[in-house]
Amino acid sequence: MTTIYLSFLGLAFISLCVVETVSTSDVYIVYLGLKDVNDPILTSNYHLNLLSGVFQSEEEAKQSMIYSYKHGFSGFSAKINFTQAATLAEMEQVISVFKSRILRLHTTRSWDFMGLNLIPTADHSNPLQLTHGDNTIVGLFDTGVWPESKSFHEESNMHPIPRTWKGKCVGGQNFNPKTACNLKLIGARYYLKGYEQERAPLNTSETSEYRSPRDANGHGTHTASIAVGSTVKTASFFGFGQGTARGGAPRARLAVYKVCWEDGKCSEADILAAFDDAINDGVDVVSASFGSPSPLLPFYNSSTDIGSFHAMQKGISVIFSAGNNGPDPSSVQNVAPWSTCVAASSIDRSFPTRILLDNGFSFTGESFNTKHIQANLVEARRYFRGGICRIDKWRNKSAVGAVILCFSTQGPVEIEDAETAALAANATGLIFVNSPTRQFVEVDIILTVRVDLIQGTKLYNYMSQCKTNQTKVSIFPSKTVIKQSPAPVVADFSSRGPSSISPDILKPDISAPGISILAAWPPGISPTSTDFDERSVEWNFQSGTSMSCPHVSGVVALLKSVHPDWSPAAIKSAIMTTAYKRDMNDDTILSGGTNEESSPFDIGSGHLNPLKAMDPGLVYDMNADDYILFLCNYGYTKDQIKNLINLSPRTTVNCPKQHTTYANLNYPSITVSSLQDTMTIKRTVRHVGAKRTSIYIASIVSPHGVEVTVWPRILFFSYFCDEISYYVTLKPQKLSQGRYDYGEIVWSDGFHTVRSPLVVCVDTAALASAIDESSQALDHEV
Ligand SMILES: *[C@@H]1O[C@H](CO)[C@@H](O)[C@H](O)[C@H]1NC(C)=O
Ligand SMILES: *[C@@H]1O[C@H](CO)[C@@H](O)[C@H](O)[C@H]1NC(C)=O
Ligand SMILES: *[C@@H]1O[C@H](CO)[C@@H](O)[C@H](O)[C@H]1NC(C)=O
Ligand SMILES: *[C@@H]1O[C@H](CO)[C@@H](O)[C@H](O)[C@H]1NC(C)=O
Ligand SMILES: *[C@@H]1O[C@H](CO)[C@@H](O)[C@H](O)[C@H]1NC(C)=O
Ligand SMILES: *[C@@H]1O[C@H](CO)[C@@H](O)[C@H](O)[C@H]1NC(C)=O
Repeated sequence: MTTIYLSFLGLAFISLCVVETVSTSDVYIVYLGLKDVNDPILTSNYHLNLLSGVFQSEEEAKQSMIYSYKHGFSGFSAKINFTQAATLAEMEQVISVFKSRILRLHTTRSWDFMGLNLIPTADHSNPLQLTHGDNTIVGLFDTGVWPESKSFHEESNMHPIPRTWKGKCVGGQNFNPKTACNLKLIGARYYLKGYEQERAPLNTSETSEYRSPRDANGHGTHTASIAVGSTVKTASFFGFGQGTARGGAPRARLAVYKVCWEDGKCSEADILAAFDDAINDGVDVVSASFGSPSPLLPFYNSSTDIGSFHAMQKGISVIFSAGNNGPDPSSVQNVAPWSTCVAASSIDRSFPTRILLDNGFSFTGESFNTKHIQANLVEARRYFRGGICRIDKWRNKSAVGAVILCFSTQGPVEIEDAETAALAANATGLIFVNSPTRQFVEVDIILTVRVDLIQGTKLYNYMSQCKTNQTKVSIFPSKTVIKQSPAPVVADFSSRGPSSISPDILKPDISAPGISILAAWPPGISPTSTDFDERSVEWNFQSGTSMSCPHVSGVVALLKSVHPDWSPAAIKSAIMTTAYKRDMNDDTILSGGTNEESSPFDIGSGHLNPLKAMDPGLVYDMNADDYILFLCNYGYTKDQIKNLINLSPRTTVNCPKQHTTYANLNYPSITVSSLQDTMTIKRTVRHVGAKRTSIYIASIVSPHGVEVTVWPRILFFSYFCDEISYYVTLKPQKLSQGRYDYGEIVWSDGFHTVRSPLVVCVDTAALASAIDESSQALDHEV
């Protein structure tokens, strides 16, 4: 074991040396920001000219060019070596040159399952019928689509495709645009050049992949149907989660941009090309469930942040998943203030599965079990050395007829490892014992019932008393039960704030359902995405922030159709300030992983509340100027900013002489990551309620150790005054270093509740050390 690890390290070291000494070419993105010509052909020629400057001939440059980005912004990607990249970066016209990375899809496991259940509780089960999103177009950046899925059939009486649409339905392998696209699926494109350059040429005879927008993974079909899937009456996974499936905006149009492939990998060069097209095609919303874990790169070195900035400038809302690297703090991804970052939470549904022992003891676990099974319950030790349910510990002994009791804590082992091992041993099934905070049901490769540690311990101790170490067990078919509390609970895996690159912008922004979500699935791909699973399904359960992101995208599509003139920031404000802070029992939403009360770093502003978001009362709006100031205070140079944000050449960027906190960005939440002294923050709200006049009154919950005052405390909105600023003064009241405390500011007119989390970390270290010294002096005297 040790040897393998060391030799691997050695190998890695050698390959690093190779990169340094021998010229290898990589895919680089050369970003020019400003688009000064409106003619795409001229722009492309210009790109080729620039690139030719680092080659002997234009022909060579042509060979190395991958994409010319020329619609939404200007730039290109090319396969070049380090020297060439450095030369290009020196050029005056060039804003930044960065290596294209490979991003990954945000599903927790390759065989998680999902169910499409849009909203957790019955009391707000159908708000989205109010409006249908007919006139909005959602661009889904993912693994493509299975166009035959019922979720992408036309709804009845759909209007013609909006005239603003300039996109295309591109054909390819097993994808005939004439039959695949319709009034629902109005656009489909695929991007392979970056992926092939950075990984390997796609060989479609070796994999099940398609050189077309067709989905060979399942992820894209699933997320698309969550966001905009048409209404389908009888959806279920072998009877589980049965009901009507539909997306958040069931009548919105879908445009698919396939940038991720069967292996779940997505090239940044391809992603930027998709942004370029989507902006030009005329989508209203971009939904993207992928990312790259820490370290987070500066905004100007990240294709998702650049692409989303340009989209935002064109009025397009961009929704990203937060990532599945929780519950560790600062694991959140996709943190740019101009996009929306979504955490994942549970819904109120469970799949209880009864386990009955021969002595009459009964236990309840969770599973998607369809059969009544009788078998011997056997402890793991019998088949696996050390009781560790993993293939490398297998005693090479057949477990036919046995249900193996496995503890996640022995090893420790992941549930996938235990399932693989039990399958190899030909076991009948598995009872998997894990901390309840980490459990959620997914589709398994072998019958697996999840139980918590209390029940698992009882089972184990009962078996240990038996002379034979085994006992007869019955496992009954699972049931689907709804209205199970507590719900929502933030998923253990959901990535947590604070943002590791811009801690004064609260991220994630919001949470939405992302555990055991049922949605459309390509019948050609097994529900566990494994070869030996021969089942074919139209609906599948999946979990991840990948699934929570399109829930928000669907709701944003509805908001866009109700309020077509609202900016992406106003729409984000609407969903954030109206989000649920409490769960279905009116308790504080819990954070899975700890089972303690969630904080804004788990859940952002709260859990998505679609109905309230339609009518938020007030919004915190932001435009390019606000982001310019943010970028100034963030520390970018004027030139970087000017070009990054694609303003006309005559516009000037005026950064204030002194950098101040970027907490003043008119964000719908307030975060101060280092409060050293009394500080005043400004916010501006715009009245968007139906009534012409309204009076809003502030109520404040101060974070522990911080005195908060809001001025004015009362806001009068009238026909003549629909926008008012207020000031929040924060005064540290304690000595502290690096502890976050949470409060909130709520504006209410008696009907609307406009809530902003207030997150403050008092850092009075200087003061504290002074006091420390004097107290030390005191110690000496004593
Ligand atoms: C990079 O590529 C250029 C053009 O092909 C070549 O002239 C140069 O020698 C290469 N640089 C290195 C360090 O190999
Ligand atoms: C941005 O990317 C370029 C090219 O990969 C790299 O040289 C530079 O260090 C990066 N900047 C930062 C701050 O990461
Ligand atoms: C693709 O894979 C098949 C089977 O392994 C092989 O015969 C074929 O030559 C490959 N094609 C390319 C273009 O590499
Ligand atoms: C496992 O058992 C089979 C049949 O009993 C045997 O052929 C095989 O060599 C064994 N493998 C190992 C690794 O011991
Ligand atoms: C498991 O079953 C398969 C198929 O029946 C058989 O080929 C294999 O040898 C069995 N393995 C064990 C360990 O019993
Ligand atoms: C039961 O398990 C214990 C400890 O794991 C072992 O010592 C004992 O031999 C087992 N008994 C039988 C009958 O397998």
